[in-house]
Amino acid sequence: MIGAARRLLESAERVVSFSGAGLSAESGLSTFRDAKEGIWAQYDPMTLASHEGFEADANLVIDWYAWRRRVLADAEPNPAHRALAGRSDVVHVTQNVDNLLARAGAERVIQVHGRLDTDRCDARCGFEEVIDLTEPPALRECPRCGERVRPDVVWFGEALPADVWASAERACAECDALLVIGTSAVVYPAAGLIGLAKAHGASIVIVNLEPSGASGLADVELLGPAGDIVPQIL
Ligand code: OAD
Repeated sequence: MIGAARRLLESAERVVSFSGAGLSAESGLSTFRDAKEGIWAQYDPMTLASHEGFEADANLVIDWYAWRRRVLADAEPNPAHRALAGRSDVVHVTQNVDNLLARAGAERVIQVHGRLDTDRCDARCGFEEVIDLTEPPALRECPRCGERVRPDVVWFGEALPADVWASAERACAECDALLVIGTSAVVYPAAGLIGLAKAHGASIVIVNLEPSGASGLADVELLGPAGDIVPQIL
């Protein structure tokens, strides 16, 4: 199966990678639907990563992101990030808000769910700022309009950034091989990109610890850790 995946990706002309939290799991970043651990285990990301959560307790939400930012500051790209970054011809569409692909050297990264390393004005006045992950800011007011500042990530119920989404759709519609890594493929519209690629004739290679919502679309499905498998097939 590893050979089949290698051959398929070698013969493709336009390869796109589509990744989820499983790509960064071996870097120590927790996924969304695997078992939770640590002090934040009792908090449900689905409530903290939401505007309702922010309205209810903005300090708690900002503290949660400050914790995630410090964890990300201490994390390192793993061999899967580095193997992907080594392919400058590949466009990397990711659901992940971490910056590990960029830190591994990947240039063409499309983050459909936003970026943990950046803050923006909650009222979208235009203010945005790359922050120091080692010293994440506390809850603060927008210096431009006085509204509150929050991480530049997509919260549940929020629309995906339209321009970013359009480039992700274009990349997945035009590719002839989609390498799907570390995603349960259950959150839409992002997960719909896999079916979009398939509908446009792309071959689908999946690398995941377990079967996922996209297994039925796979031409080749490799079950195991991304850090082991991805360097062998790229
Ligand atoms: P999930 O936590 O839903 O799925 C992670 C997938 O990665 C699971 O299928 C795991 O089996 C697999 N996995 C875990 N460790 C792995 C490893 N070392 N190697 C390979 N696979 C591994 O995370 P996502 O699919 O990314 O949305 O979740 C999608 C979206 O749901 C997230 O972007 C987030 C969440 O709601 C927003 O933040 C808007």
